[in-house]
Amino acid sequence: MKEQIKQLKDKFLQEVEKISDLAGLAELEIRYLGRKAGELTKILRGLKDVPGVQRKEIGQLANEFKKEIEEKIEKAKKLIQVQAKTESKVDVTLPGVSFPEGHLHLVTQAIREIAEIFEQIGFVRRRYPEVEWDWYAFESLNMPLEHPARDEWETFFIDKSPIGPKGQRVLTPHSTSGTARELEFQKPPIRSINIAKCYRRQIDASHVPMFHQFDGLLVDEKVTITNLKGTLDYFVKQFFGSERKARIRPFHFRFTEPSFEVDVSCGICNGKGCKVCKEGWLELGGAGMVHPNVLKAAKIDPKKYSGFAFGWGVERTYMMKSGLSVPDIRLLYSNDLRFLNQF
Ligand code: DAH
Repeated sequence: MKEQIKQLKDKFLQEVEKISDLAGLAELEIRYLGRKAGELTKILRGLKDVPGVQRKEIGQLANEFKKEIEEKIEKAKKLIQVQAKTESKVDVTLPGVSFPEGHLHLVTQAIREIAEIFEQIGFVRRRYPEVEWDWYAFESLNMPLEHPARDEWETFFIDKSPIGPKGQRVLTPHSTSGTARELEFQKPPIRSINIAKCYRRQIDASHVPMFHQFDGLLVDEKVTITNLKGTLDYFVKQFFGSERKARIRPFHFRFTEPSFEVDVSCGICNGKGCKVCKEGWLELGGAGMVHPNVLKAAKIDPKKYSGFAFGWGVERTYMMKSGLSVPDIRLLYSNDLRFLNQF
């Protein structure tokens, strides 16, 4: 009888391996454990005729086999169910779904790149308020109240008239207000770059009321125009390419003396002159040596310290790099993906 159980077991193990559907498993279960004619049931039933000594041993063997059959069938059922589930959900022949991938706005990309270039030569990026006191936006920058130079900045005023010793609050019209704060709050040597949102009452194809500027500042003993020129050259080569050059032309700002406008050599004709640039140079923005009155307003001794500063528009600088001729600068802020996806 022992031998009979062993053979039955081998047969069962072979059979269960081959079955791959639930109906087949149910049939197998009946064939072995069916109450009327199950193969193992028959053996269990015959136990009563086995002599007492062997009965216990054979009974145990048969019961273990019964348990094994039940377990194996249960396991096989689960496997079939799991396979059925995954097969019905995943059609591996379908083409994959690619999710749309966004990227940083081009102005953010430009800001990060500019910050990194200056950080490499020791400039620290600063952030200063967008709602600013008149003192930092104008007065401390050598533009007293009623000075006509202020008109250029098309300012948004928050207060109608001064509300304290620092005057009215304004939406800062240029990042140079951050430079004024830097001078007042830090002690020389200073090397900072303030990249900020600026606001002006202007809107047309080449102006938006909110735009970005970056203002660099370096103050130390014995700082000269040569240092300024070297820094400008460095930036121009890093940002626009090693073959490009910077040029400074005399200009006028109230907060720098002497003041300059900075040009970059045209990337198309390499400074020779072409249809795009006319004379070989493209205008970048302003720069100059910090005016002694501005140092004095920040309680820095102009006899001991000197410095240079520069301030340019981020949007304009970026567009000059990519050689873009955007017909309307407002496109940058219209959130039109057909435009933005090109960068
Ligand atoms: N703030 C000036 C503007 O908005 C640009 C400028 C010129 C900034 C000269 C500077 C500078 O720091 O030195 O037009």
